[in-house]
Amino acid sequence: MCGARLGNNVRMPGFTSAAILVTTDPPHALETDLLVIPVFENDSGNGLDGLDSAIGGEWSRTWTAREITGKLFETSIVPVRDAWAARRVLLLGAGPAEGFSHETAGRLAAASAMLARQRRSTRIGMLMRVPDAHDAAVVLERLVQATAEGFVYGQLQHSPHKSAGPDLPPLERAQIVVPGGRDRSPLQDAADRGRVIGECANDARLLANEPGNLLTPRVFADRAAALATGTGLAVEIFDEDRIAALGMGLLLGVAKGSAEPPRLMVLRHEPQDAPQQPVLGLVGKGITFDTGGISIKPADGMDRMKVDMAGGAAVIGALCALARLGVPLRAVGIVPSTENMPGGRATKPGDVLRSASGKTVEVVNTDAEGRLILADGLWYAQQLGATHLVDVATLTGACVVALGRWATGLFGKPVEWVEAVRGAADRAAERAWPMPSGDEYFEQLKSEWADMSNTGGRSGGAITAAVFLKQFAGDGPWAHLDIAGTAWVDEAKPWQTKGATGTAVRTLVELALCASEWSGAAAGPASSRGVE
Ligand code: BES
Ligand code: MN
Ligand code: ZN
Repeated sequence: MCGARLGNNVRMPGFTSAAILVTTDPPHALETDLLVIPVFENDSGNGLDGLDSAIGGEWSRTWTAREITGKLFETSIVPVRDAWAARRVLLLGAGPAEGFSHETAGRLAAASAMLARQRRSTRIGMLMRVPDAHDAAVVLERLVQATAEGFVYGQLQHSPHKSAGPDLPPLERAQIVVPGGRDRSPLQDAADRGRVIGECANDARLLANEPGNLLTPRVFADRAAALATGTGLAVEIFDEDRIAALGMGLLLGVAKGSAEPPRLMVLRHEPQDAPQQPVLGLVGKGITFDTGGISIKPADGMDRMKVDMAGGAAVIGALCALARLGVPLRAVGIVPSTENMPGGRATKPGDVLRSASGKTVEVVNTDAEGRLILADGLWYAQQLGATHLVDVATLTGACVVALGRWATGLFGKPVEWVEAVRGAADRAAERAWPMPSGDEYFEQLKSEWADMSNTGGRSGGAITAAVFLKQFAGDGPWAHLDIAGTAWVDEAKPWQTKGATGTAVRTLVELALCASEWSGAAAGPASSRGVE
């Protein structure tokens, strides 16, 4: 498994959580408020010696009474007798053992952390039960990393603006109990890595939950700079004059309708020990509020458009994680940020804008603004030397129609690079589903009045958006993640509060951690192999 050890871990103004310790002590020795034991369907009780008597026969009683069946997220909390050091055991349904994965492990950990905090338990421990089928050491590392990520993810308290909320104490101690006879140190590294990634995902969630009035482009940029402080990232914030000097007519065109000035965030991770190439270029959509502009959106549900900077937040979160983890790879993060408003100076349908790359765009619909600002961002990432591009954006409603809320749309070229991103998403337990982006679709973007139009009609709306971006992605590897369906959840889940999900942070970090495996996706002219 590719990974990095935790580098210099300075205190930062982002989401913080207690250290997560991996222990090989037997479960009975764990001193904790809540010892979480995942329970599989038809669980044989393997590795749970002494549990039944420690909880006064509750294990056998509840199975017989079918109070527990091992169904995913089923919970039963039982007190523990003196022989075990834990105060209570949480039997937590983990589903069928065959289907157990790092995704399930992460969600169970997040659910446990949420539950522990609601109960005001400040010490939590979780037993890592590895089903027989998955016994490899690498799998255990993944499970531990995902568990640590989940522990942190589950600790996010939303609604910082509610004056009276449940003031839940933070977790003071989190432990992961692994079976004895294992080498603890790579597992502790995995837990440290998971904690940092979880914290950075929470930073992205906190940003994306902020309302548009409080998180304007200027505030967004200030907060990005604050998050980067102390991580070793180089940060530059460009104001409207510098954006104009770079010739970013698409970003400025979107910003014109707003009283708030735009910003361009540039974050660079340049570790000493990293080779000059490759350079990962991450570009995130940073629309702090999307009214649609002159092509204004309907009122219903428009409040949700505060999440339209989630791609930008994910890029910031990922860059912070790379720096904090000391990942030996060069990376740049570019976040163009503006509001999309219908002001008196706003760009109008039919207006023609000139991009920094020189290509001109007819703005047929001002609500297709994300692709405009990303186009200038993609250009700038290449100016800074990025060899491998990934952009992340809440880009199209059409992507939500196509894939629903459980998969991110994945587009790009060449196939090898798309595969690298898809693999990273899988390992990060963030599903990304490959979609076409072949040049045939450019037909729909043809314009009488400029090099291209910014919309391609109703059919294949997520695809034509991607193909628009492709015009600005250069000749090298480029992938596009459309997170319109996955950046936000309307309903709380056992492992996830309502609101921003922080999606793509884990995928991007995983992609960077495995840079040595980017074979076949070398920088240079796009491959013509396979389906694009
Ligand atoms: N920010 C929206 C896309 C979106 C939709 C994000 C739902 C999150 C949830 C984007 O700027 C947009 O408005 N896209 C238009 C494009 C159309 C005008 C071509 C859309 O999807 O309707
Ligand atoms: Mn829009
Ligand atoms: Zn938008």
